[in-house]
Amino acid sequence: MENQDIQYQPVPVKSFVIVGKDKNASVEKYLTGLLSTYDHLYAFIDKQLMMKSQVVRDLAVELQAMGCPMRAVEATEEAKTMDSVMEMCSWLMDKGADRDAVLVAVGGGITTDMVGFAAGIYKRGVRYVNVPSTLLAQVDAALGGKSGVNFEKYKNILGVIRQPEITFIWPYLLTTLPRRDFLSGAAEMLKTFIIEDGGNYRKAADLFFDMSSEYNMEVLMNGKDEKKTWTGIVEKHMGTLCELIKAAAHVKARIVSRDPFEKGERRKLNLGHTFAHAIETLAQRDGGERFNSHDGTEEVHGVTHGEAVAIGLTLAARLADRYYRNDRNEITALEGHISNDLWDCGIPCFCPYSIEEMAQVMKKDKKAEGGIIHFVLPRSVGEVDVVDLTVEYVCRLMA
Ligand SMILES: NC(=O)c1ccc[n+]([C@@H]2O[C@H](COP(=O)([O-])OP(=O)(O)OC[C@H]3O[C@@H](n4cnc5c(N)ncnc54)[C@H](O)[C@@H]3O)[C@@H](O)[C@H]2O)c1
Repeated sequence: MENQDIQYQPVPVKSFVIVGKDKNASVEKYLTGLLSTYDHLYAFIDKQLMMKSQVVRDLAVELQAMGCPMRAVEATEEAKTMDSVMEMCSWLMDKGADRDAVLVAVGGGITTDMVGFAAGIYKRGVRYVNVPSTLLAQVDAALGGKSGVNFEKYKNILGVIRQPEITFIWPYLLTTLPRRDFLSGAAEMLKTFIIEDGGNYRKAADLFFDMSSEYNMEVLMNGKDEKKTWTGIVEKHMGTLCELIKAAAHVKARIVSRDPFEKGERRKLNLGHTFAHAIETLAQRDGGERFNSHDGTEEVHGVTHGEAVAIGLTLAARLADRYYRNDRNEITALEGHISNDLWDCGIPCFCPYSIEEMAQVMKKDKKAEGGIIHFVLPRSVGEVDVVDLTVEYVCRLMA
């Protein structure tokens, strides 16, 4: 048979559900109602989240009442490994999980990545449901079916693409999220809107600016408690936050459903990520010591994924400014615009590594093909191009 006779059917992106902004027992009932349509549930819950969130403990009680076995997940980048995924699979074997099993991931991007990966390989693939509990996972990691673990000090280098049955987004879960993790998600949300939605980019940047100013006023000026203040601010802005989470999730779902296996358009979602992954890899190697400092309110160690994305966004904007000027004789001037917005939102975006240091890692990026990387370059806020460049050329432009 000639190759052109073979029809490839793209896998559709399964549904995501977004529920209201409140703490409302009917939301838990709605979620457990959705889950009760599956017979063989196995839940994996972020250990820290379970300790911090009453809502998640209530959910665990409901799941237990449904006879669902549960396992705690260590949600750290160090534990995001093949060994942890193997342990999840051993546990599923011990519990007698068969091919009808449905795994439920409750946690941030580390948890949904590891559970999604286990679901992709266990008995050649079982179904899974995501209940993301961080802003980053609600707008990005828990949508789109990509999952992966770190391997040999490279980020997410082993993984699969397998769509979740449902991603259940409940913004109220964010009320216990620490400010630093919230801002990491904010960076990922801004990235999404730079790709496709300039109007919501402005709305999100203004919201995070307001939240950051209110926090600084209360904590730095009035000496109020950091954690309580932040929770109050998240609750106060929950309505706008819900709208923005929904809009960002829609952008991602739309792009992924057009290109689920990243053969073309989905590459846009990697805006800033080639630099971000290099930064995370270097930080893992040097123990994150170039990031360790005080930010005025708390001691900062290492770099989170979202913080690396924020730095990656400013570097991508710098590369874009220089590429368009050099190669196309166009002026974009986005670096200042994006880095000022990130700074105003309270998201750190200074890069402590040289382009040469990053280049060594970028050459091993999982998206590098024959020495060429598909770099995503912002042309304006709301529009990006995917341009194939060698790492050497990028180094020359960025020097
Ligand atoms: N698969 C994808 O498409 C994709 C996309 C983006 C990022 N990622 C991955 O996602 C990971 C980052 O995800 P993340 O930022 O969600 O990190 P995470 O899962 O590590 O969560 C961050 C921290 O917040 C805690 N936490 C989670 N929810 C909480 C809550 N509601 N209240 C209090 N604490 C809570 C966790 O215990 C953890 O300490 C990275 O490993 C990254 O590679 C994957």
